[in-house]
Amino acid sequence: MAATGLFLCIFLLGHLAGNLQLFLTDEAGKLQFNAYALFMTTFPAVKILSYLTYFSIVFHAVDGFLLTIQNRKARPTKYAYSRPDKNTNFAARNMAVLGSLILVFIVLHMRSFWYEMHWGELGTDAAGNRDLHTLVMTSFKNWWYTLIYVISMGVLGFHLWHGFQSGFQSLGLSHPRYSPIIKKTGYAFAVLIPLLFAVIPVYIYFFG
Ligand code: HEM
Repeated sequence: MAATGLFLCIFLLGHLAGNLQLFLTDEAGKLQFNAYALFMTTFPAVKILSYLTYFSIVFHAVDGFLLTIQNRKARPTKYAYSRPDKNTNFAARNMAVLGSLILVFIVLHMRSFWYEMHWGELGTDAAGNRDLHTLVMTSFKNWWYTLIYVISMGVLGFHLWHGFQSGFQSLGLSHPRYSPIIKKTGYAFAVLIPLLFAVIPVYIYFFG
């Protein structure tokens, strides 16, 4: 779970970097983004990374589900005295629910863009490339669609708040000197990455 989780964190960084191009909402931005999307769906080395991403999502979700069941079975009766709020935080206690919500988001998200890019009936831009840019721009003109993205990014933030540092710990990478740095990096990652992801749809809604 840790290895796939941390790989998905790297995917998020790459995906965010590519998505930042969506701040270019004009004609030049359209040509640039569509050329980029074509490259991302056809270049062989990127395709391998994509398959690794799909595998990681499925593995991470299935393994998380199985682990949750295993944990429940291992402790069928609740502790007589338990104050989980004293030694864990909201994110740590709700990883399964947060993860499930992210999975719902990913299915919706991939149906909207990834499926359309691969098999949908998109128009073409001036360079003759499939016009994914226009689809993204029109999708985020819808207030409730944009709201779903913003809420989902909040959920992602909570999941990463605990998940980032937990991934390092599960891999055995814990050390008195480095663990506090990993924790702080994790908190910064959990806030900044989802925030930047969320700003894109909101920007397109108002200025796209
Ligand atoms: C502002 C937020 C986001 C925007 C505008 C966005 C946009 C897109 C677009 C346009 C595609 C299709 C690209 C293509 O098929 O060439 C895509 C694919 C994808 N997105 Fe996002 N995305 C966002 C956030 C996220 C987040 C937060 C996640 C994960 C939690 C995610 C997961 C994926 C995955 C797994 C794919 C398929 C990637 C692949 O085929 O390699 N996206 N996204």
